[in-house]
Amino acid sequence: MRKEAVPSSIPSAAAGTTTLGKLFICFETKTLVTTLLALTLVMFLWNLPPYYQNLLSTTRPCSAPITSVSVTASAASVTASLISTNVSMPYKANPVAKKYNTATPPKPKDPNKRVFESYGNAAALFVQMGSYRGGPRTFAVVGLASKPIHVYGKPWFKCEWISNNGSSYRAKAYKMLPDWGYGRVYTVVVVNCTFPFNPNQDNNGGKLMVNAYYGESQRKYEKFMALEESPGSYNESKFNPPYQYEYLYCGSSLYGNLSADRIREWMAYHAWFFGPSSHFVFHDAGGVSPEVMAVLEPWVKAGRVTVQDIRDQAEYDGYYYNQFLVVNDCLHRYRYAANWTFFFDVDEYIYLPNGNTLESVLNEFSGYTQFTIQQNPMSSMLCLNGSSQEYSRQWGFEKLLFRESRTKIRRDRKYAIQAKNAFATGVHMSENIVGKSLHKTETKIHYYHYHNTITQHQELCREYLPSTAVKQVTWFNKLPYVYDDNMKKLANTIKQFELETIGKQPQPH
Ligand SMILES: *[C@@H]1O[C@H](CO)[C@@H](O)[C@H](O)[C@H]1NC(C)=O
Ligand SMILES: *[C@@H]1O[C@H](CO)[C@@H](O)[C@H](O)[C@H]1NC(C)=O
Ligand SMILES: *[C@@H]1O[C@H](CO)[C@@H](O)[C@H](O)[C@H]1NC(C)=O
Ligand SMILES: *[C@@H]1O[C@H](CO)[C@@H](O)[C@H](O)[C@H]1NC(C)=O
Ligand SMILES: *[C@@H]1O[C@H](CO)[C@@H](O)[C@H](O)[C@H]1NC(C)=O
Ligand SMILES: *[C@@H]1O[C@H](CO)[C@@H](O)[C@H](O)[C@H]1NC(C)=O
Ligand SMILES: *[C@@H]1O[C@H](CO)[C@@H](O)[C@H](O)[C@H]1NC(C)=O
Repeated sequence: MRKEAVPSSIPSAAAGTTTLGKLFICFETKTLVTTLLALTLVMFLWNLPPYYQNLLSTTRPCSAPITSVSVTASAASVTASLISTNVSMPYKANPVAKKYNTATPPKPKDPNKRVFESYGNAAALFVQMGSYRGGPRTFAVVGLASKPIHVYGKPWFKCEWISNNGSSYRAKAYKMLPDWGYGRVYTVVVVNCTFPFNPNQDNNGGKLMVNAYYGESQRKYEKFMALEESPGSYNESKFNPPYQYEYLYCGSSLYGNLSADRIREWMAYHAWFFGPSSHFVFHDAGGVSPEVMAVLEPWVKAGRVTVQDIRDQAEYDGYYYNQFLVVNDCLHRYRYAANWTFFFDVDEYIYLPNGNTLESVLNEFSGYTQFTIQQNPMSSMLCLNGSSQEYSRQWGFEKLLFRESRTKIRRDRKYAIQAKNAFATGVHMSENIVGKSLHKTETKIHYYHYHNTITQHQELCREYLPSTAVKQVTWFNKLPYVYDDNMKKLANTIKQFELETIGKQPQPH
């Protein structure tokens, strides 16, 4: 995973800057003594494990109504406890947390005046995954945030560019919650910072700082560095066509015990389908086992694939391995990398019916920012009863030939967008775009969905239909199936392409 985008609670350079930023703001309002103590604290923070960082930075927003005395007191007590604690085992060091929380006001005299004492922090205010420049004047900060705060509260954000030449500019910030309310403890937040002009016009470099507010109040917030541009690194040509690729694939979180054979087949098919000017980004949330990595490795070496390690997302309870977070990170990370960005899963195969070519279809769609793609669900177990077939040696899409044929029912769709016109995105479509969306696409492009095949390690063919099933509708488990060998017809081409492109892959077992 990216090293430059560590969450702000981790003791890194970024976190250090956070604290420093806070100090500068505090400077005028606090006494010199407090500042000196706080500086001592900073020296500690540099060396503190995450647990202490959290404790200190989230409970001590500088302008919050905590008196300097209590700051001093808690700092001192932390210092004292730290010295007597084994710092390398922070998660057992409970006394520190207790110490801090005793800094609550004294009990009131009125017996009917009830006091609410809080202990600890349940969910972070903001967990940064990535921050990206999205054009000459605009940036996107992608992360997670405590869901109840965003559902029931009114948190907001403010952005500031601090130039290396000393000037600084404020920007309007607005937030999007692109996960349709699916979040759990955490929800996905995309913060859009747009300046009236390029804040790094002189290319001297600088930092994008973000203030994340806990609620409506201006007084309680966390400040973190979202992004840094080194001197001379800004290059405007990146934001204009031609882009590096024509097509980019943003995969969502890969998890579970994935079948390396299926991944190999998917990869070979889509590398062929999208052609040489395409790139594939996978996100490993635990699904990329050594076997899966082995089949992806040749494509990585060929420069066609990037695998990002997002296993640490497990710390943050969001929707299904934080897939909404991942697709938004991918959108903004690669916003100007390709004409079109595709979002679908590794058990789905994009297909062009009626002899269409991808180029002709997308030329036709080029007036739209986004188009959605209809699903053709395939059986994960029905095969033809052909004694001549050696199914164990065939690829999944070569032998699973029965399509569930109900019409007029709602099925999930997948989609592609011109990412430069999208501000945030979802798993099935984006709701934050400029421009038009197109949904009537089924005669031009659709996809085959091989649900329940991707974690299946046994033989896929488990039910055999007689050869008459080729010509008529077959009912199986109360669902109608028709024969569809469009994908099978491509199998030899794909195998040949794989061999020519990356050489011999291990045979399926
Ligand atoms: C801290 O605990 C670890 C693991 O038990 C131990 O190896 C180490 O010596 C301890 N360090 C101190 C300073 O007590
Ligand atoms: C610093 O850089 C900004 C933007 O690049 C520029 O507008 C500003 O004039 C510069 N300030 C100084 C003091 O050079
Ligand atoms: C900016 O990027 C373009 C295209 O990648 C490159 O040709 C050009 O040399 C770059 N300009 C600078 C100043 O680095
Ligand atoms: C991608 O964009 C470039 C530049 O706008 C254009 O020439 C090219 O035809 C586009 N390719 C596709 C597949 O849309
Ligand atoms: C994944 O499945 C394979 C094949 O069934 C099995 O050998 C392996 O132990 C499984 N791995 C895990 C982590 O469950
Ligand atoms: C932020 O929003 C503005 C206005 O809606 C838009 O023009 C810009 O492209 C967005 N930036 C990013 C990085 O999404
Ligand atoms: C499959 O074919 C074999 C031999 O051709 C036959 O004995 C068997 O009954 C067939 N099964 C079905 C389900 O048609």
